[in-house]
Amino acid sequence: MEPKHERRQFMYLQWEDKFRREKPYQIVSENIPELDGLARSNINMIEGPEELIENIRGRESTFTLDQNGFQILRHQFPPINYQSNDEVENVYKPEIERLLKEEVEGVDRVVFFNWRLRLNVARDSLANLNDPLVPLVPAHNVHLDQSPATAVQYVYEKMGEEAETYLQGRVRIFNIWRPYAHHVEDCPLALCDGSTIRGSDLVICDNIQKTRLGETLLPLYNPDTKWYYLNGQHNDEVTVIKIFDSDADVAASCCPHTAFYHRNIPPDVPPRQSIEVRALIFTKPD
Ligand code: OGA
Ligand code: FE
Repeated sequence: MEPKHERRQFMYLQWEDKFRREKPYQIVSENIPELDGLARSNINMIEGPEELIENIRGRESTFTLDQNGFQILRHQFPPINYQSNDEVENVYKPEIERLLKEEVEGVDRVVFFNWRLRLNVARDSLANLNDPLVPLVPAHNVHLDQSPATAVQYVYEKMGEEAETYLQGRVRIFNIWRPYAHHVEDCPLALCDGSTIRGSDLVICDNIQKTRLGETLLPLYNPDTKWYYLNGQHNDEVTVIKIFDSDADVAASCCPHTAFYHRNIPPDVPPRQSIEVRALIFTKPD
């Protein structure tokens, strides 16, 4: 089989000396009156050197959340209308929860905290971050969606009085990502092997939304990192991306990621449509 490896340049945070004094930030919502007049961000993204992105098709099952920070699960989903908030809440999320409990070790409790659709078409307005039914375009910067501090913030927010108890066990954040309309030709997701990154390369960046102040992690380019993708990902192929892990003993504690364009795709392929669901994953303390 043709390996279909790719070589692409990704967009990375450009390191600047001012970050020693000034925390990086991005304002990602429109119309926050308190921030009127402030620049939308104090960071720049820069293209890294060309990197190899290995196609993992045929050896998907050798990549695991503990070893690599991501895992591909196979699951046939029932027909679901992804444009319906009710169906995503009442059919899709329970199905994901069952799948994770069956297939991933230590998943005692799953608490979802957000979800989105993505569609790879040009958009002239910023999406409404508070409405998951308005699709986002693919993300072309290398990133991790939540910092460890933001992970803990979600635990307190979602678990209330139970938070302290759950924080004594293992806490992870998974992003469950898959195409839902047709298989992916256009704009697949590249996954960074978490065991190949250094914690010191992850820069904390404030992520300012209208209704939330959180943090993301923006990795700096490092030639030691390894990248993978699943060529032609089908609707029944689920990528579980680990965003956070409180267990310091595993080889991979997270999986930075970014969308990228294939070098050669036929002109008439449909735009990528995907759904991503994020959840806190709790393992009971021993
Ligand atoms: C994500 C993500 C990018 C994309 O799901 O967290 O960054 O293009 N997705 O789907
Ligand atoms: Fe992401």
